[in-house]
Amino acid sequence: YGGSTVPNEPVAVTCKVCGGHVHEFLDLGRQPLSDAFREPESVAPEFFFRLAVGRCESCTMVQLTESVPREKMFHEDYPYHSSGSAVMRAHFATVARRFLDTELAVPDPFIVEMGCNDGVMLATINQAGVRHLGFEPSNGVAEAARAQGIRVRTAFFEEETAARVRAQEGPAQVIYAANTMCHIPYPESIFRGVDALLAPDGVFVFEDPYLGDLVAKTSFDQIYDEHFFLFSGHSVRAMAEHYGFQLVDVDRLAVHGGEVRYTLARAGARVPSAAVAGLLAEEDASGLSDLTTLRRFGDSVLRVRDDLVALLRRLRAEGSLVVAYGATAKSATVTNFCGIGPELVSYVCDSTPAKQHRITPGKHIPVRPPTAFRDPYPDYALLFAWNHADEIMAKEEEFRRRGGQWISYVPDVRVL
Ligand code: SAM
Ligand code: TMP
Ligand code: ZN
Repeated sequence: YGGSTVPNEPVAVTCKVCGGHVHEFLDLGRQPLSDAFREPESVAPEFFFRLAVGRCESCTMVQLTESVPREKMFHEDYPYHSSGSAVMRAHFATVARRFLDTELAVPDPFIVEMGCNDGVMLATINQAGVRHLGFEPSNGVAEAARAQGIRVRTAFFEEETAARVRAQEGPAQVIYAANTMCHIPYPESIFRGVDALLAPDGVFVFEDPYLGDLVAKTSFDQIYDEHFFLFSGHSVRAMAEHYGFQLVDVDRLAVHGGEVRYTLARAGARVPSAAVAGLLAEEDASGLSDLTTLRRFGDSVLRVRDDLVALLRRLRAEGSLVVAYGATAKSATVTNFCGIGPELVSYVCDSTPAKQHRITPGKHIPVRPPTAFRDPYPDYALLFAWNHADEIMAKEEEFRRRGGQWISYVPDVRVL
């Protein structure tokens, strides 16, 4: 198993938001970069780091205890293309239309997105002819957005880059980030940038995996290098206030296994909605941010690991062909923490060209295109992309008709 066997030296880890003491509650062991799919013949040394999570005693922010340099994760070859899912394309079209109908329904509106990836959200904004700018440091996906006519700067959003845009293009009514704020272990620079660029009555909106769903579903695979923060209503409110902003609205989202969209405004600029108080009350009632809850989550993770490995070993001993579906970044945590390699899962099928014909980080499971899934159909398919279950199962209906069975490990290990 991937978990550390040598007792770790107690190192003082300080919160990336408030500087408070971070108390570690789960160690997921030595892990590679989750999106570093390798050429099969590569002999280059693989980068590993220690993946562990803790909770800040002061502001409750749940965060990794080690961060990976951003250039190692986000670069020319970043393989994740947001537009690979029809459900996510529809989700982001809805997000864009909502902004167009509300915050952007003003003279000469301007929206800035950090982490715009291949333009999955800005495409709708661009089609509406609304002034926009995406920040996307991973140039391969940024090029895919530019190819559709979307304005993208290949750069990290941070204090300096945001201030430059403010000087050149004026204030933005909306600054938006999806599945990106939680990737950023330097929130101070982000909030200074937002402060510089946002219009006085503008909103800073971000949506990310929700700690409440992680705990409820034991979805420990949401923890990996890129997911530095695991947000809750309480921790985001504390973070907003720390930087002179206010949490004024929250929306629970079903996408990616459960997320929350947080809307922030400058302190005092807007009246918080009832949904904010509702979410905070719910978190208080469930003890979401308590260390005991998080430790119990850690115990559930070990149970899922043991159940999953036992099932895969049994199926393999029976001579079944077991493959996986979706070479997700999440699955790096599962395979490396549980010790699942090609001896248990023969290959992973994935629709992303940049991942195909490569091997997964750390455990080196071959990645094949979805056509390989049908040729021949396996006996069992471990659903690494469980957050896209409906979309994938609908696409691969024939698998079940022929007697194939899906395996899920969220919220617990079961054959579906
Ligand atoms: N927004 C898309 C979505 O929800 O599907 C993409 C999410 S992807 C998981 C995270 C993206 O954030 C990557 O494309 C990465 O290059 C980008 N990113 C990381 N740090 C960033 C920063 N400081 N500013 C802007 N983008 C950043
Ligand atoms: P995500 O969970 O981070 O969005 O990653 C989903 C992965 O699953 C991504 O590599 C694309 C892949 N995928 C498929 O192979 N087929 C599909 O139908 C969908 C929706 C995703
Ligand atoms: Zn803190």
